[in-house]
Amino acid sequence: MNGKNILLIISGGIAAVKTPDLIRKLTKAGARVIPVLTRSGAQFVTPLSIAALAGSKVYIDLFDLTDEAEMGHIELSRSADLILVAPATAHIMAKMAQGLVDDLASTLLLATDTPVMIAPSMNVRMWDHAATQRNLTTLQADGVHMIGPNEGEMACGEFGFGRMAEVPEILQAVTRHFEKGPLSGRHVLVTSGPTHEPIDPVRYIANRSSGAQGTALAEALRDLGARVSFVTGPADFDVPTGVDVHRVQTAQEMLAAVQAILPVDAAVFAAAVADWRVEGAQDQKIKKQTSGALPVLNFVENLDILATVSSHEHRPKLVIGFAAETNDVIANATAKRLRKGCDWIVANDVTPATGIMGGANNTVTVIDANGPEGWSNMPKTEVARMLALRIAGALS
Ligand code: CTP
Repeated sequence: MNGKNILLIISGGIAAVKTPDLIRKLTKAGARVIPVLTRSGAQFVTPLSIAALAGSKVYIDLFDLTDEAEMGHIELSRSADLILVAPATAHIMAKMAQGLVDDLASTLLLATDTPVMIAPSMNVRMWDHAATQRNLTTLQADGVHMIGPNEGEMACGEFGFGRMAEVPEILQAVTRHFEKGPLSGRHVLVTSGPTHEPIDPVRYIANRSSGAQGTALAEALRDLGARVSFVTGPADFDVPTGVDVHRVQTAQEMLAAVQAILPVDAAVFAAAVADWRVEGAQDQKIKKQTSGALPVLNFVENLDILATVSSHEHRPKLVIGFAAETNDVIANATAKRLRKGCDWIVANDVTPATGIMGGANNTVTVIDANGPEGWSNMPKTEVARMLALRIAGALS
């Protein structure tokens, strides 16, 4: 990030106390930090300490006549290579999503087409609230990059999502942003993990997918510079940092999330989506009958997300499916590629003896219009790296 101008907006959350360290590290990495403090941000860190660390004036008021004479607020945001909002409170996220302007920070955010990254920080209930999640979806659709938040203990004593990403994570995301990988400027969607299809509020139908391959793929694509939208069911793995995360439970939610993210340059469907859901899932727990009568579950088929996207009006240039097979792997996967209308299909044998589902390694065959290409057994992270490079080649 040598010589890059980073406009750092510090809004009012307890995580603002981490920003002096962030400024120190950004500056050490060669960036020029121009700090902007919101009024509530100034309750947590002092303008003097921030100015001293950044080696720059701290901007606070919108109508500061001296500043307007020296550098207008429009110029301030346009001269930056990146706008970083850390911490980003629920309030500033809501203002950004609505395009509201009532102070310098919100004015700068609206008056610019500079890339924006935010590191959200708030109480878990505020993060989980439908309004914040709505704002998050809007901001992601607007192209705002998210860093975190993380899951953990909060200053208020509660536990959950909402902790601001740690300084090294923010630093890594900013560094990656300025690195020009072969997928820089490309937007790639990845689905991952299993889906859970409810039977009643306490029971569901699931599968053994751990989310390992999809997670590794999202990381590999991110490392090549792609903007990654990661739609994940309830998986065993922590979500990768530096990607836009969309958490879902059911196949229907996954389809809706995917459709809201389109258009993208490429989409990889690594999720093990449930083929069926329970018709008329109960909203109360199904009780055991004293008569001994057993419950009867009727199923309805879920829409095929991969096939839907393959024939979508915003079809990505490259659509890649996975095929989990237990027999006649190549023949079944070849037929599946044609049936679903995708460009490549990554076939693997998921018979329990292979240890692939839930395991660390994978043996895949990549099938495209030219036929099958068998890859040797390797860690899922390596499969991901090779696939990401193949995707970069196809999009170049
Ligand atoms: N897939 C999807 N939506 C579904 C079902 C599957 O997007 N409702 C995607 C998976 O993410 C994967 C591909 O389709 O990329 C193939 O999934 P797989 O489970 O192997 O195939 P099925 O469609 O379930 O076909 P079959 O049951 O015949 O194996």
